[in-house]
Amino acid sequence: MKLPEIHIPITEVLVGKNVKLFIKREDLVHPEISGNKYWKLFYNINHYLDKNCKRPYIITFGGAFSNHIAAVSAIGKLSGIPTLGIIRGEELQDKWRDNPTLLFARRNGMNLKFVTREEYRHKEKLTVFLQQEFPDALVIPEGGTNGDAVEGVKMMLNNETKDFDYLCTAVGTGGTIAGISKFCEDNQKVIGFKVVDDSSLKNRIFELTLNKNFDLIDSGLGGYGKIKDENIRFINDFKEKYEIPLEPIYTGKMMQKVFELIEEGYFPENSRILCFHTGGLQGIEGANLLLEKQNRNLII
Ligand SMILES: Cc1ncc(COP(=O)(O)O)c(C=O)c1O
Repeated sequence: MKLPEIHIPITEVLVGKNVKLFIKREDLVHPEISGNKYWKLFYNINHYLDKNCKRPYIITFGGAFSNHIAAVSAIGKLSGIPTLGIIRGEELQDKWRDNPTLLFARRNGMNLKFVTREEYRHKEKLTVFLQQEFPDALVIPEGGTNGDAVEGVKMMLNNETKDFDYLCTAVGTGGTIAGISKFCEDNQKVIGFKVVDDSSLKNRIFELTLNKNFDLIDSGLGGYGKIKDENIRFINDFKEKYEIPLEPIYTGKMMQKVFELIEEGYFPENSRILCFHTGGLQGIEGANLLLEKQNRNLII
């Protein structure tokens, strides 16, 4: 089954403080292939299906709570294509059943191969090896970020998104912001909220977009996977007020920082700001399990 094109409406969340803030709910695009994953995988999968390989196989990479692993496993189930997830962390070998993301992936039929952090760091080598062993396979990089992903992100933009001065997204591997930066209008400014401390990110994004219309801002809420109590409070208040769920790894951090920037007067008066809700809500269950173990407040 090919992934269809889907139109996502824009919701207004804040008027005041001299700016208008809107959110585009890409999280609603599909219940299991959520947010930016849908669009990053769109051409990867559809082009691969066009090849009509005799023995189709999809292989990809991710961490223990990876939204990308969850999405690829769901695509495998929907399309009937076997999938393999190369997972960072050998220690998960005997514990994956306690991890909601990996359990979901297994239930979708994804095979899981656990590798050490050192092996994972050299995924490029693994990719070459896998491509030799399975010449017909589609090997998708971590987070799905590649040229096809950047092209797919174009579909997050349309006539309605042209009407904004600022386009905001959370940044992990950089494919999403690269697509937004590549295909937005010349007068639009793109802001990426980094959730990973990686000094090479800016250059890698530039290589994908070839545009200089984007800035990267640190969320200030801790490195990858870190969850601060103030962010949990923000996410829970946001859900209560706007009835929009956020998760603590990407969208919750982006949105809290956007609110802070608005408060500080970072955006010029009358700016129209659009934040992309890039999904990832499947991660809340796993995050809550960790928070529960630490006797901390949970995400509602
Ligand atoms: C929910 C969510 N938002 C944003 C991102 C960041 O996207 P990218 O890796 O393309 O920078 C990810 C990671 O893929 C994600 O899972």
